[in-house]
Amino acid sequence: MTFAKITGTGRYLPDTVLTNEALAAYVDTSDEWIHSRTGIRQRMIAVDEKTYQMAAKAGLQALEAAGVGPEELDLVVVATVSSEYSMPSIACLVQGEIGADKAMCFDINAACSGFVYSLDIAAQYIQSGKYQKALLVGVEKLSQLVDWEDRGTCVLFGDGAGAVVLEASETPGVQDVLCKAIGKDYDVLVSKIRHNDTPFYRQEEEHTLRMDGREVFQFAVKKVPECIEELMGRNQAAPEDVDVYMLHQANERIISKIAKTLRQDPEKFYVNIDKYGNTSAATIPIGLDELWRSGALEGKKAVVAGFGAGLTYAAALIQF
Ligand code: ACO
Repeated sequence: MTFAKITGTGRYLPDTVLTNEALAAYVDTSDEWIHSRTGIRQRMIAVDEKTYQMAAKAGLQALEAAGVGPEELDLVVVATVSSEYSMPSIACLVQGEIGADKAMCFDINAACSGFVYSLDIAAQYIQSGKYQKALLVGVEKLSQLVDWEDRGTCVLFGDGAGAVVLEASETPGVQDVLCKAIGKDYDVLVSKIRHNDTPFYRQEEEHTLRMDGREVFQFAVKKVPECIEELMGRNQAAPEDVDVYMLHQANERIISKIAKTLRQDPEKFYVNIDKYGNTSAATIPIGLDELWRSGALEGKKAVVAGFGAGLTYAAALIQF
């Protein structure tokens, strides 16, 4: 039997730090409000970097960690909602930038669940024997989507990229992935593409990110634990069998509530939202890279779980 195993990780965060205090120059807010509601202290903003450049840098770091050359890759998948391009895919730009000349390339749009969706797809390619080596990247430049006059959203998000290399292995890796969506609730969190006016119609005015924060909060604290319970159940396992939980970093209070619902020690749940804010598809691979480099994942059983626009949600059980 062939397994799909994570063999290396990487991340890229831009240098420009935007603290909660500095944000108060743009909108009526405070460090106290943001930190007590979300756990965020600061976020990184990509000033000069494009999304594909951040993705390529994280990807190269992951390849180096795995000891895999770009030319060996069969597949490059990028999860993002903030590409500068409708076409081509960011994955194609990354392929060109790093020299992964033989790789098939495509992007995944599943918002903050995008990395877990991409893990599911890439694992299937590897387990089927079709491909041996894949690069998965979660990248976002959300600073170019948010309305910098809307204090309800602009304080939440940040920019960055995380990546993993997935390889065929004889020992277990990605054990199972569960991906779900509730499309009828799509309008809870929306960001429209800005198109040109045509001779026939004018584009709609509003294109910045709009979110009903309370709805997202309620959705996340209900559906993510359900998804994790279902994933564990169908693998004859229980939440207590998991050593490390790497959940999407949208709000520290959401993570605490999920830990409580699953009756798990909050210490098992990695949190870095204080440093980076919500980087959507990038939060999980960025966190995995921090954990990987600290040695905290070695030999461990982990659950990663995302939730976001779609509404989408997803969880994966991974043996490191
Ligand atoms: N600073 C100061 N005050 C603010 C701010 C701010 N940045 N933002 C809102 N407020 C005010 C509001 O105007 C409101 O004032 P009012 O009572 O005078 O009307 C008050 O604070 C409460 O606002 P709420 O929106 O009700 O605040 P809430 O406690 O619900 O917290 C939050 C908002 C943090 C967004 C919360 O709902 C949340 O985290 N939701 C989940 C959001 C999320 O996870 N999004 C991302 C998931 S998807 C993805 O990652 C792409």
